[in-house]
Amino acid sequence: MRDTIVDTKVIKDAVWMACRAPSLHNSQPWRWVAEGSAVALFIDADKAPKYTDTSGREALISCGAVLDHFRVAMAAAGWVANVDRFPNPNNHRHLASIDFSPMDFVTDGHRQRAEAILSRRTDRLPFAAPPDWKSVEEKLRGSVDSSAARLDVIAENHRRELAEASQLTESLRLYDSSYHAELIGWTTDFGLSEGIPRSSLVSAAESDRVDVGRNFPVTNNPERRRDVDEDHSKIVVLSIYDETHDSVLRCGEALSAVLLDATMAGLATCTLTHITEVPASREIVAALIGRTTVPQILVRVGLAPRIEDVHPPTPRRPIDEVFEVRSEDR
Ligand SMILES: Cc1cc2nc3c(=O)[nH]c(=O)nc-3n(C[C@H](O)[C@H](O)[C@H](O)COP(=O)(O)O)c2cc1C
Repeated sequence: MRDTIVDTKVIKDAVWMACRAPSLHNSQPWRWVAEGSAVALFIDADKAPKYTDTSGREALISCGAVLDHFRVAMAAAGWVANVDRFPNPNNHRHLASIDFSPMDFVTDGHRQRAEAILSRRTDRLPFAAPPDWKSVEEKLRGSVDSSAARLDVIAENHRRELAEASQLTESLRLYDSSYHAELIGWTTDFGLSEGIPRSSLVSAAESDRVDVGRNFPVTNNPERRRDVDEDHSKIVVLSIYDETHDSVLRCGEALSAVLLDATMAGLATCTLTHITEVPASREIVAALIGRTTVPQILVRVGLAPRIEDVHPPTPRRPIDEVFEVRSEDR
């Protein structure tokens, strides 16, 4: 570890920004501890939705996303974050230790990427087709570390099979009362700092125009984005070569990179995992991308034509609940 000391306030501000990262049901299953010249990221498994994410895989993906967001936030503040993943073989909850070196120059690109953290939302409404997809796809491919995760785009002629896989997931869970109770628990507006607020969910009519969304409890707001008759998004799949903790964490980092690049390209995104939570539908996705890797996450990417449709940001836990400063002489 290098011993450059970064002001704790800079780290705390970057953690605050990083915590805008997406997480399953906005569960935010992470904890940060700053100590001396480093900061450590831990998974907070108690916060993870257990019936949706039975293996804890998605909690780890969420932590990968917050880790990459943190790196982006620190870069905008002029620091390179050096990440050591799983530094303690006896503690798998300790996901990363991070120390810092000064960056030569903060570019507009670094600043815009951090701004994308603040403007990104999970948008569950239908999207118009993304313009100039070829160059966007190239950008997304470039942002994913190919040794960590593979990026595929579902071919248009496979879209129906994917929609069927999505329906299969929902029908296999029709009688899974623990899953449905959990979903209701995370989507009830209780005015707190976690979970998905009603304003981020969709009505029955809106969800009818999206063929591959997770079935959340529906809202009864007036129908939005009526000019988009059905979802014309491209669907990106992130998959991994093996299911080690390290690979799953890195896949979350790749998710962050894809979402931020799409946001910087002016596109809307929606992360989807219901299809990969159930083995039968996950197997269908695996077949669609060639069966050599294990699908983890799908992302709808498209154009949200009217900016006024964008809902307010989802809440987050207060920073002092997730960030702690420890003195070195404890
Ligand atoms: C691992 C993971 C799985 C997710 N799965 C879904 C999903 O299946 N459907 C969905 O609409 N959103 C999904 N999301 C998005 C979260 O619900 C969203 O990030 C969270 O509510 C916070 O909202 P925000 O992304 O708008 O900040 C997922 C996010 C992550 C990181």
